[in-house]
Amino acid sequence: VPERIAAHAPGRVNLIGDHTDYAQGLVLPMAIDLGTTVTLRPGGTVVELTSADDREPAVVAIDSTDTPSEATPAWARYVAGVVASVRPRSGGLGNVTSTLPIGAGLSSSAALEVALALALGCQGNAVEVARLCQRAEHLASGVPCGIMDQLCVTAGVAGHALLIDCRSLAVTPVPVPPDAEVVVVHSGRARTLVGSAYAERRAAVEAAAATLGLPLRDAVQADVAGLTDPVLRRRARHVVTENARVRSFAAALTAGDLPGAGALMVESHASLRDDFDVSTPELDALVEDLSGSPGVLGARLTGAGFGGCGVALVERGAGQALVTRLGPSRAWVVRPSAGASVDELSP
Ligand code: GLA
Repeated sequence: VPERIAAHAPGRVNLIGDHTDYAQGLVLPMAIDLGTTVTLRPGGTVVELTSADDREPAVVAIDSTDTPSEATPAWARYVAGVVASVRPRSGGLGNVTSTLPIGAGLSSSAALEVALALALGCQGNAVEVARLCQRAEHLASGVPCGIMDQLCVTAGVAGHALLIDCRSLAVTPVPVPPDAEVVVVHSGRARTLVGSAYAERRAAVEAAAATLGLPLRDAVQADVAGLTDPVLRRRARHVVTENARVRSFAAALTAGDLPGAGALMVESHASLRDDFDVSTPELDALVEDLSGSPGVLGARLTGAGFGGCGVALVERGAGQALVTRLGPSRAWVVRPSAGASVDELSP
């Protein structure tokens, strides 16, 4: 057992492909250069962590049978979720620091889960660690999230976005062209009702698939048109068209067709707004503002929606001006980064 471990996990921003992961579909997120580090001195039977973002520590026994979602303070739910999912052989004393905005839709919770799982000695490949941390998220938050966030955090590749097939869990790195930059901007509204509304959207997608008798991954527009329930039809249409947009976006990035990629982001936002109903007035206004800004190739909401962040693809050199205009406390130029990693520190 090493004396001291530092595990770092990046956050992620999704460039395109939202609300498709739990439908066995396609997503294209990238790990970013904002993230969370857990430093731990392993030992004992309790995980005890302090956080730079909360006055109260998280204290969880490794054999705890308490319900993770009821742990206090609130951030300790994620610690309890990881402990319940990973079942580490030893606890540890340590601390958490993060450069990610918390709860903004950049997967601060997935970053904490993965960094902590690795610090606690969780073994396995990117998919295995991601699955354990997805389960930790389910236990901690009660939100039936897909695999995108945790898998992007474990599998990130510097300079690349990741095309993830959420059926096979195959990860294909797609280079982000050097003449493009990615900017993330908070809409100003904290994400609200994410838990219940997210679960309701997922249930609608599953109801549409059950009605059609096939996963939406395999459905085509003609199948969708046959759905008689107008709400299920719109939800399914989003998933089917979004999967197609992810494929086209990956091809556009690979070909260096940045205007083409940007146009797909704008279409994705309209679909999330009109068919999937997960945008907010603030996100719509933000995406419109970004879309009309110099050097912006395309913009959309990113992640679950219901508040949180927008993402823009911009021409190289245009990102900093956007950050300056919108304010560095709510806008960030983010770089495609490597996935989570562990270091043994000298005592
Ligand atoms: C959240 C979930 C992901 C995914 C997105 C929407 O980030 O954690 O699994 O479903 O929403 O694409």
